[in-house]
Amino acid sequence: MFEQVSVEKVIYGSGENLLMRGNAMAMPEEIRALYGQAQCVVLDPPFMTGEKFMRRRPYGEQGWKTGAPAPRYPAYEDRYSGEKEYLRLLRRLVGAARELLRETGVFYLHLDWRMAAQARIMCDKVFGKTRFLNEIIWAYESGGRSRRHFSRKHDVILLYAKGPKYIFDLTRVPLPRGEGRRNHMARGKDEQGRMFSSIVSNGKEYRYYDDEPVYPGDVWTDIGFLQQRDPERTGYATQKPLKLLERMLLPVTAPGDLVVDLCCGSGTALEAAQRLECRFAGMDVNPEAVAIALSRLKTDNLTVICPCGKEKAELLAEEDAENGRFRMMGLLENHPLFPARATPMDNLEAWETGRIENNVFYAEQSFRRSFRYPELVQSLRAEPGQVRAVMTTDAAGIRRAYSR
Ligand SMILES: C[S@@+](CC[C@H](N)C(=O)[O-])C[C@H]1O[C@@H](n2cnc3c(N)ncnc32)[C@H](O)[C@@H]1O
Repeated sequence: MFEQVSVEKVIYGSGENLLMRGNAMAMPEEIRALYGQAQCVVLDPPFMTGEKFMRRRPYGEQGWKTGAPAPRYPAYEDRYSGEKEYLRLLRRLVGAARELLRETGVFYLHLDWRMAAQARIMCDKVFGKTRFLNEIIWAYESGGRSRRHFSRKHDVILLYAKGPKYIFDLTRVPLPRGEGRRNHMARGKDEQGRMFSSIVSNGKEYRYYDDEPVYPGDVWTDIGFLQQRDPERTGYATQKPLKLLERMLLPVTAPGDLVVDLCCGSGTALEAAQRLECRFAGMDVNPEAVAIALSRLKTDNLTVICPCGKEKAELLAEEDAENGRFRMMGLLENHPLFPARATPMDNLEAWETGRIENNVFYAEQSFRRSFRYPELVQSLRAEPGQVRAVMTTDAAGIRRAYSR
């Protein structure tokens, strides 16, 4: 009944935001079309760890119910022939980031001890030394401890401005005044009954009111690394916490501004941008990253560009004309990575109905498993023959389009 077809892109709603598969080494035209428009470019590229990252995502209804990740299989490789090859990628990314920014825009580059020094020199050259704003230290507690040297427990986030009139409003990231800051200070209460701590320096009294916020400096120790069982976890290796991205974006963007992430992975920066009512464009070379990022985003206004899978898989769907419903019973496929006792329903993570015109899939209704909704909705009200096309995302993140 339904035949597998190829589509170039999927459009949800008016399709203004962008999520795409693409390689930064051959910057796609859809990204180049945004040059000069972004208020913020966020880059969290590979760190040159030499690692082969595994995907840890639940499979099927049971997996989503228990949260147990299975099966594990390769996600992406952070391996390069050497520093030269890595720096070529980084240079492309940093150059494109600058091109993407408008004059008031800023750029974040997230790395760790391995390449942060080289990146700093590179960014100084591309943006100009005078455009450097911060080297943010994101310190966390995670994993093992070294005995050969002090444990390496921080990442480095460089912040650059495109021009002298960049936008930065620190008052958008207030923090409660902590107890620690009151050390050695006198305590007092003013005429209105407001509590404060104070210190006298050079004969002048400085008051710090308990109800007044403080603002973050460039060392962030209050944002934890995502734990294995964190509900925010998508199963994508190297996923960053939303709180981190929100702190980065809040002072430098306003609703409606464009945020771009050229190595979006699981889409943390895109979700943060969406929460802050910014427009966004995200790209990643890994198609599974695109599928996972999509699962985190609201799809009322999004274009997704990601090639569809070509492996033979059969969509099990039927029309229940009597009850006015369209039923979808899963995907019949032999994916080498799926568990042996996989069922057609378990093979599916999400599906969408829609129509296809000129190789574009226009999505109408969509269903997606999550920890809240582990069971995939299987049927929807539809007049006979009304559902013209279906898009599926299998448990490995591969998307396929079908038409009749
Ligand atoms: C550190 S991860 C990003 C994680 C992301 N910030 C998150 O919170 O999930 C780096 C990403 O860069 C992507 N990547 C590697 N080489 C790339 C390239 N040439 N072009 C675009 N993306 C690339 C990887 O697939 C990976 O998803």
